[in-house]
Amino acid sequence: MRILFITSNKDKFEEARSIGKRFGFDIEWLKKEYEEVQGNDLEEIAKKSAELLTSQIKEPFFIEDSGLFVDALKGFPGPYSSYVFKTIGNDGILKLMRGLDNRKAKFVAVVAYFDGKDVKTFKGEVSGEISREKRGKGGFGYDPIFEYEGRTFAEMGEEKNEVSHRRRAMENFFSSIQGS
Ligand code: IMP
Repeated sequence: MRILFITSNKDKFEEARSIGKRFGFDIEWLKKEYEEVQGNDLEEIAKKSAELLTSQIKEPFFIEDSGLFVDALKGFPGPYSSYVFKTIGNDGILKLMRGLDNRKAKFVAVVAYFDGKDVKTFKGEVSGEISREKRGKGGFGYDPIFEYEGRTFAEMGEEKNEVSHRRRAMENFFSSIQGS
């Protein structure tokens, strides 16, 4: 089955395509910037952003919104992950975490799917830790500082797609549409 993924982020698309393949879905890329609604809740942001897009895109599509939630920073940067990455970046997060022993963090991804009629959301989470320094050459965004079972996502290559927040959100999404 072919499904349209709207994103301007090539790395996200590549991961989604690879995950889709494992489940027999052919993910097609519509490279497009869209207005991301502001808010404190990823699910609401993804849903409203997809609803806005339905005025332009009439066929079924999905978008995906992610965030990094750091325990010791009370969930920061969370829904502001994109802005924080562009401003203080990984070095800034590591600096904020200097001297902190609680390194727990999670990544959350929300897929918002427009089936031609309604928008439905699917969530995926992965727990890990913020590393003490950047490690690894792969991945994108916060991957070099997000550690999962001893390796950062940037050190995991294709294995990231077996355990990531994106994988888990997409798995929920695929199992829901497979039956429909
Ligand atoms: P958004 O979903 O595009 O709004 O992403 C929010 C921020 O989190 C951006 O700065 C992304 O680079 C980052 N991000 C999203 N997904 C991942 C991921 O899988 N690994 C690392 N960073 C990510």
